[in-house]
Amino acid sequence: MRKLFFAVVLVLVATCSASNGLEGESLRSLAEKLGIYIGYASINHFWTIPDSNRYMEMARREFNILTPENQMKWDSIHPEPDRYNFSYAERHVEFALENNMLVHGHTLVWHNQLPFWLNRQWTKEELLKVLEDHIKTVVGHFRGRVKIWDVVNEAVSDMGSYRETIWYKTIGPEYIEKAFVWARQADPEAILIYNDYNIETINPKSNFTYQLIKELKEKGVPIDGIGFQMHIDINGIDYDSFRNNLKRFADLGLKLYITEMDVRIPKSATQKDLDRQAEIYAKIFEICLENPAVQAIQFWGFTDKYSWVPGFFAGYDHALIFDKDYNPKPAYFAIKRVLEAKVSKGR
Ligand code: G3I
Repeated sequence: MRKLFFAVVLVLVATCSASNGLEGESLRSLAEKLGIYIGYASINHFWTIPDSNRYMEMARREFNILTPENQMKWDSIHPEPDRYNFSYAERHVEFALENNMLVHGHTLVWHNQLPFWLNRQWTKEELLKVLEDHIKTVVGHFRGRVKIWDVVNEAVSDMGSYRETIWYKTIGPEYIEKAFVWARQADPEAILIYNDYNIETINPKSNFTYQLIKELKEKGVPIDGIGFQMHIDINGIDYDSFRNNLKRFADLGLKLYITEMDVRIPKSATQKDLDRQAEIYAKIFEICLENPAVQAIQFWGFTDKYSWVPGFFAGYDHALIFDKDYNPKPAYFAIKRVLEAKVSKGR
């Protein structure tokens, strides 16, 4: 009788611990069988948050690549002209390397999250020097440990022209090629990518980006890949256009990355919204896995508890694949089914 009682307790404990649906193979394990990377943006100070252990446990189980969400950006890593602060970025890198994950560095040239000291008048020569010093110092510091860099981020406007940033207005368009050349010099082994949003399908912005990268490649500028951020909403995207767009960038000889995926849905999400979101995630994964140039698919976070979406899009939330209690959502299972099918048929 006693034995029976303990057996029942054991079964109950096992059922409860698997009840969030995470029993079985992880996304990471499936991705590794397919030879791709699956990852997430790693939140600020994840080592001090109250649910740090849970966060880290999920991350190491499900993913094999991470991008620090903010802590490699200029304002964090280069707070004063002559002072770099690598301590926070190092925590992300250490966590990744301890858990056999790749690190995707983000980002060397952007117009947001710049330190206050950059906000003054510069001559072209001065700003070139500042940029060269930043890129060589940061890439050099992480040489061999950060394998992929978003060298230039969001340099194209939504209309399809150069974005009018401090870099463009002071230096001119050549800041882009110089950034790639300096990054290559600082770490010849790192994969160097151009990263942007709203370039997933064929449109004026992706056309301009395509032409820009094509010309840079023809000049011999060391660009290895392109990052499609993929911040999208419940309306999804035009899938044929996405497929064709991936193909044209791959035909330039580039590696392809989905770098920041999330699918925002209404704050008051219904089961129907969650199912629709799952379909969108699954479809994007299917199309990516058709194209052998796709190397990695990363989400901009993994739990809805920590996501930039509610703070930036009024009325939207729940954009990621785990809910606020770390339970897998329909999107998680839909992605898993796509990966499992690919594993059984071969990519
Ligand atoms: O660090 C300050 C902190 O000192 C202050 O107390 C707090 C008060 O609001 O703000 C903190 O800064 C915030 C920063 O994230 C660091 O957490 C900013 O307000 C906030 O605007 C900033 O948002 C980030 C955003 O980039 C800035 O543009 C998001 O977390 C981050 O997810 C987002 O990421 C970008 C990618 O880098 C590029 N692609 C688009 C993507 C989403 O916008």
